[in-house]
Amino acid sequence: MIEYLREQEKKSMLRFLTCGSVDDGKSTLIGRLLYDTKLIFEDQLATLERDSAKHGTVGEDIDFALLVDGLEAEREQGITIDVAYRFFATSKRKFIVADTPGHEQYTRNMATGASTADLAVVLVDSRQGILRQTRRHSYIASLLGIRHIVLAVNKIDLMDYSQEVFDTIVAEYMEFAKDLGFASIQPIPMSARFGDNVTMESEKTPWYSGPTLLGHLETVRVENDYLDKPFRFPVQYVVRPNLDFRGFAGQVASGKLAVGDKVIVAKSGQESKVKEIVTHGGNLSNAIEGQAVTVVLEDQIDISRGDMLVDPTNRPHVADQFQAHIIWFDSQPMIPGRSYILRTEVDSVSATITALKHQVNINTFSHEAAKHLNMNEVGECNISTQAPIAFDSYKSNRVSGHFVLIDRFTNATVGAGMIDFPLRRASNVHWQAMEVNKDARSEIKNQSPAVVWFTGYSGSGKSTVANNLEKLLHAQGKHTFMLDGDNVRHGLNRDLGFTDDDRVENIRRVSEVAKLMVDAGLIVIVSFISPFRSERQMARDLFGDGEFVEVFVDTPLEECIKRDPKGLYKKAQSGEIQNFTGISSAYEAPENPEVHLHTLGHEPAEMAILIDSYLNKR
Ligand code: ADX
Repeated sequence: MIEYLREQEKKSMLRFLTCGSVDDGKSTLIGRLLYDTKLIFEDQLATLERDSAKHGTVGEDIDFALLVDGLEAEREQGITIDVAYRFFATSKRKFIVADTPGHEQYTRNMATGASTADLAVVLVDSRQGILRQTRRHSYIASLLGIRHIVLAVNKIDLMDYSQEVFDTIVAEYMEFAKDLGFASIQPIPMSARFGDNVTMESEKTPWYSGPTLLGHLETVRVENDYLDKPFRFPVQYVVRPNLDFRGFAGQVASGKLAVGDKVIVAKSGQESKVKEIVTHGGNLSNAIEGQAVTVVLEDQIDISRGDMLVDPTNRPHVADQFQAHIIWFDSQPMIPGRSYILRTEVDSVSATITALKHQVNINTFSHEAAKHLNMNEVGECNISTQAPIAFDSYKSNRVSGHFVLIDRFTNATVGAGMIDFPLRRASNVHWQAMEVNKDARSEIKNQSPAVVWFTGYSGSGKSTVANNLEKLLHAQGKHTFMLDGDNVRHGLNRDLGFTDDDRVENIRRVSEVAKLMVDAGLIVIVSFISPFRSERQMARDLFGDGEFVEVFVDTPLEECIKRDPKGLYKKAQSGEIQNFTGISSAYEAPENPEVHLHTLGHEPAEMAILIDSYLNKR
């Protein structure tokens, strides 16, 4: 038994994934691999035979797809909807396979499964040839740094095992993939259903002399170059069971580490030496990529979760602006200027896409101008984070060079990114330390600066209440300034219209201006529809605690339509004005405003007093 385990330990590991369109037979293929490698346990086999009778789509034969499609729901729909990882081994190698779904909107799962894979099996249905999806998946695989491809020309049985069909598909694929930078592409004609060339050579393809799929997977050389990569260790948490012990727990993301090695904290630049490498099974003299360990340093230096210990002779970039390739997953398009949460292996920060430089056409690889990225699209972007992060370029290190983008409100992962390089352009612009600062400016005005942010439909009464508030404050000797949507759109924002993108930019500029005014010590009254939560949150994030007061002017839409003070609703309803809030563009009501005004039946002056008393209480 021990002997057996030792043998297993010594075998190399290949991580691969399968990708293809819905009916290309991915699950059948993996099922066939597992079945033929005799890894199906007897009881699983029994269930399989039973289920095949119930759900199977291949008549009397065992339906291998059922073995792999885990979820009942998937079976019912007949599609695979999540990444499933499976482990199997032969006498030559160990394998981890990620079965990634092929349905259009599931690019997300492919990117998740692919980010650690060495090889991708791209399935093509012989009857269909190369599809859009084949191209998309291959492109994403190359973007994600996968270097080896198996082109599985499946269902060749349905094309009479024709060499001509195979050759045509292979030629087309090779032409398409020549610029994708793969180190190897192995085309194999196969029938997953009948097992041709999966684990056993097929007699039906005498014209094919290459390896079987399993034969290739067992022998393909993938570069295990991680030991040459620089040491990267994201600290997951600080272990401090007692005063005598302080260790940093995490997983070695790349490279290796030995007791006595010098390490440096990526962001702060503090240095120390490794005193001990601790694990559950005892202390180690060294650790390599993939190992989970606790590192104890010789010096007491300030390190916390989110720091990264690195090789001092090969440090990562630390920057708050960089260029990256982004794959967009969400059905809501990516909007430049909007703020998302950017999460790397180490950091989690607010980030905005400052520029979408172009979109990549997946069929031709040409760069095309674009204003957004829609679902499944790929673009090259400049990104700016709220605080500097430590990273490598994705090309040099897949672990420390990738990130995901998360929607602030739905918490959904909306995109994945591969960092290209840091942008240096802003690095020589530093904050100028001012001797007369916000505190000094507010003190002389005898007030606490704030921004009172009005949001609500057009015609809800924002400007009227805002006006009343300013009069009230002014009468108390307060120093105020009013920023009103209609007015600012005549000057600073005269170049902006009412598309989603323009509204995002509208609010971004106004919140920056409001911030300058708050720094000047003023009480700033902002009155904009500001229909999107994300941008109101972005505005809020610019200010200190208690400085941002969100006022929701809550007038029902029907009432605004009835009032229609500028006749705009009428025009919007007749289609004369487009993207009109409430009619043809969304309004996302605040969930927790500081002040919630139900306007019906209340006088503007009365509501101004309510806000004033909130400001005084604050
Ligand atoms: S916001 O959505 O970007 O915050 P903002 O407050 O600046 O809007 O401007 C809204 C004002 O522009 C409205 O009060 C209205 O007078 C005018 N307007 C013109 N077209 C539109 C439109 N399509 N949607 C909303 N408001 C519009």
